[in-house]
Amino acid sequence: MNAIIEKINAAMQQAEKDLAVAATLDEIEAVRIRLLGRNGLFPALSKEMGSVPPEQRRDTGNAFNSGRNQLQEWMDAARERLNSTAAVKTAAAMDPTLPGRRWNTGHRHPISIITDECVAIFRRMGFTVADGPEIEDVYHNFDALNTPADHPSRDVGDTFYFSDGRLLRTQTSPVQIRVMESHEPPVRIVAPGRVYRRDTPDATHGMNFHQIEGLYIDRNVSLADLKSVLQTFATEMYGPKANIRLRPHFFPFTEPSVEYDFSCMMCEGRGCPVCKNSGYIEIAGAGMVDPQVLRNVGYDPEVWSGFAFGLGLDRLAMLRYRINDIRYLYENDVRFLGQF
Ligand code: DAH
Repeated sequence: MNAIIEKINAAMQQAEKDLAVAATLDEIEAVRIRLLGRNGLFPALSKEMGSVPPEQRRDTGNAFNSGRNQLQEWMDAARERLNSTAAVKTAAAMDPTLPGRRWNTGHRHPISIITDECVAIFRRMGFTVADGPEIEDVYHNFDALNTPADHPSRDVGDTFYFSDGRLLRTQTSPVQIRVMESHEPPVRIVAPGRVYRRDTPDATHGMNFHQIEGLYIDRNVSLADLKSVLQTFATEMYGPKANIRLRPHFFPFTEPSVEYDFSCMMCEGRGCPVCKNSGYIEIAGAGMVDPQVLRNVGYDPEVWSGFAFGLGLDRLAMLRYRINDIRYLYENDVRFLGQF
């Protein structure tokens, strides 16, 4: 034994203790630097090898080599120990019985779903989509649609007017006028959108609701064409059992005018609370476009004729999804909207 071997042995004893209790990777690294680092004990002692008598060199060299190997083993073991306790800690922190985290995906609004469905059905029948402003003028919303000056729907109690005389459109029908003003016949359009009426909100009324307007102008269009388009729409929407019924009615912009009912899809026409035992549900107004309306847009009623209809989209959505209060459609409650 010489002084170098003694120093190595002493250092190894200390290192073994330190590594056994090392609690962080930094503490292990500190031991490595102290003994094996560039300015550590082993390199320093190796410079003293020259002064070791030849007969002790082999033992001294062995002490160096086995010391280095031993250190490496202890450090590996210490790192392994730290890793496994860290793994145990994270495993303990995870509770597999907790409910998973849910991604909140968006949902389409029921009105949007129904609107897209209606548009798709009418597109297949050759209609294109038209659009118009929600802030309308009196001319397009009422006058051009042949609405008499004293018609109650013009009343400030029924319609929202702006101070400049314009209004929030009360129906999608003004889009008919705008399309005919800017297009030569024939015309085949649908126009979905929001409409506004001054109403006291309740389960079936809102101040804001949705319609889809239809307009078909060509030569020799008849009420039979209207009926077949509406029947096709009902069948596409609710299947082969859907039936429709037209009832005489009055609208200023159509002559003759009809109201359009679906056979009740809840009871298939047998009678239930939803259809108030009538077997039918009112869906739309419709009719043959009044010759005066055609004249108002510069179409010759002797050449052109056509039909128009206006469907309530909120009503369709409520029937489809069995929603019994229209206000759900406007309250933006995610508990409701998340169901679609
Ligand atoms: N605009 C009417 C309403 O809001 C619905 C309507 C009836 C539209 C007859 C039409 C139609 O295009 O021809 O009550």
